[in-house]
Amino acid sequence: MKKALKIVGIIIGVMLLFIVGFASYVGITGIPKYEVKKVDLKVEITPERVAQGQKIASMECIACHAGEDGKLTGRLLVELPTEFGTVYSQNITSDNEKGIGTWTDGEIYYLLRTGVKRDGQYIPPYMAKFANASDEDLYSVIAWLRSDKVQPTSEEVPESSPSFLAKFLSHVAFKPLPFPEKPIPQPDTNNVIEHGKYLANAVYNCYPCHSADFKTMNDLVPEKTGGFYGGGNKMPNMKGELITTSNLTFDETGIADYTEDEFIQAVKYGKKRNGQLTRFPMFPHIQLTDKEVLAIYAYLKTVPKIKNKIEG
Ligand code: HEC
Ligand code: HEC
Repeated sequence: MKKALKIVGIIIGVMLLFIVGFASYVGITGIPKYEVKKVDLKVEITPERVAQGQKIASMECIACHAGEDGKLTGRLLVELPTEFGTVYSQNITSDNEKGIGTWTDGEIYYLLRTGVKRDGQYIPPYMAKFANASDEDLYSVIAWLRSDKVQPTSEEVPESSPSFLAKFLSHVAFKPLPFPEKPIPQPDTNNVIEHGKYLANAVYNCYPCHSADFKTMNDLVPEKTGGFYGGGNKMPNMKGELITTSNLTFDETGIADYTEDEFIQAVKYGKKRNGQLTRFPMFPHIQLTDKEVLAIYAYLKTVPKIKNKIEG
């Protein structure tokens, strides 16, 4: 009996040592680094690409990277759940020292696809990734970044200090996305549902906010995200109050009652069906065309319904 207790004691001791050891390893190494594949890419800057890039960026990059003056200096991501730590988006202007002026097109492309920076540092889910966006749409974003629409600024924000949880999850759960092996073509815009799916899941990233939790999101196969489009993810607004995302499935606890027109009002102009305005961090997606919003609506109708009543 005594001997058995001793063995159990030793096993628990070894496990504790292992846990403490792994915790200090995570604390010391921080977010892991990965090998970076060199991508040969020189994006041709055309007016069409700059316009399309600006459109995508206005709802993606600018939303996270612009400071109060509108310049892409970076800012504190107040809307990030505090459990991930204190995170600042960085200066992504063409400034050579504080911005990304010396990054190659290939390095930017690699980051957008995989989430790995040119120094190998992985960025956890607090930066959007674009595993399924078309090559052309990402080239457009790069063309826009390189164009005179983005004014260089030599200001900077502090470095991020991710929490232990963010570091821990980056060791055990969050991983860089695989670099695509084949070119990713533009979606077929005549296929309304495919088009909507592409817009909502590959470019404008509606699902990470509108599913259960950022911790169970799946960038590569969005449909495998926990509580896909069922809402319930909680995120701070400017005042630090928690706002819960809406259920966007066509369940009666979701948006089953929304007409096409009401959906356009909500997504483009921030007017909810109940008459209230959508609160930050949901912002009006005014740059989307009605056709695009209706494609998202048609796609959401095909998403399995989830019963999840969102209070407040
Ligand atoms: C959800 C918010 C979010 C969105 C959307 C987003 N970013 Fe970021 N981005 C971040 C954060 C946060 C960091 C800094 C991460 C860190 O501290 O490690 C970052 C870092 C970067 C960096 C690395 C900068 C450096 O010097 O290390 C680049 C380049 C970048 N983003 C480009 C983009 C582009 C281009 C887009 C649009 C296609 C975009 N980001 C969209 C949040 C975002
Ligand atoms: C940064 C997180 C975030 C992103 C990205 C986002 N939303 Fe939202 N959305 C929210 C939050 C939070 C609310 C709830 C706002 C409120 O209750 O005032 C909301 C509310 C809504 C509503 C109102 C539904 C209702 O309750 O009546 C619609 C419709 C909607 N979002 C659609 C979209 C679509 C479509 C996209 C992608 C193009 C999108 N959202 C992207 C956070 C987000």
